[in-house]
Amino acid sequence: MARTALVTGANRGIGAAIARQLAGRGIDVIAGVRDVASAEGLLADIARSGRQGDAIGLDVGNLRSIRSCVAALKRKGRVIDILVNNAGILTGEKLLEMDGAEVLEAIRVNALGPLSLMRTLGPAMAARRYGRIVNVSSQWGALAHLGPGAYGVSKALLNAITVKVAGELPDCVKVNAMCPGWVKTRMGGEGAPLSPEQGADTAVWLATLAGNGPTGGYFRNRKRLSWLD
Ligand SMILES: NC(=O)c1ccc[n+]([C@@H]2O[C@H](COP(=O)([O-])OP(=O)(O)OC[C@H]3O[C@@H](n4cnc5c(N)ncnc54)[C@H](OP(=O)(O)O)[C@@H]3O)[C@@H](O)[C@H]2O)c1
Repeated sequence: MARTALVTGANRGIGAAIARQLAGRGIDVIAGVRDVASAEGLLADIARSGRQGDAIGLDVGNLRSIRSCVAALKRKGRVIDILVNNAGILTGEKLLEMDGAEVLEAIRVNALGPLSLMRTLGPAMAARRYGRIVNVSSQWGALAHLGPGAYGVSKALLNAITVKVAGELPDCVKVNAMCPGWVKTRMGGEGAPLSPEQGADTAVWLATLAGNGPTGGYFRNRKRLSWLD
């Protein structure tokens, strides 16, 4: 039976490329998106690859929305084998110039939302003895290269969460963080050298790791990164 992946923020940018590439590898894809209508084009592409595509409303910065997404998955009888925490926001230039609400929003969307999804879906993956969790982080989450505003702090927290969750789940559930590189998307801007398809590659590799693949790691271009620099 085909595996099923939940990809957050799959309506555009790197998330859409990850979703398309997973479908191309024979995986059914559920797009967790704030606006379900925005995933229409993606769902048509997934259908063209002969896989099942679905979109479910999901705001990863909102616990209630996460709960209702998980309830919808249950109602539809959808079992998640692969979770790609891709949705993210880049906010603020200087941490000291951001107010608490803005900082908290970055932490909610980039780190706590992914943790809630891992907490909900991870144990069920462990019970089924198969799971792949990919946290789309950034090299700007490494301590020596922290990105601007609350972004770097939130990605460093996502990295720390990746290590902890990987340690708490059995090895059959692989939990890894990755950096897509500098990618031409709304977030990355026009000057970025990589296409969303190139940026998606390492995430798709981690989402489809073999049983002897790594867990608790941090990768870019399919190679290990240091958590520090
Ligand atoms: N682009 C780069 O150079 C780069 C570099 C390093 C890491 N990254 C990481 O790669 C990931 C994808 O980035 P991208 O470049 O593709 O960015 P993007 O084009 O700005 O897309 C961001 C995606 O996240 C979704 N999103 C934002 N807040 C959300 C929320 N609260 N709930 C659900 N979805 C939400 C957006 O949905 P809406 O359409 O609803 O806004 C959109 O689908 C992010 O985690 C980012 O930090 C990107």
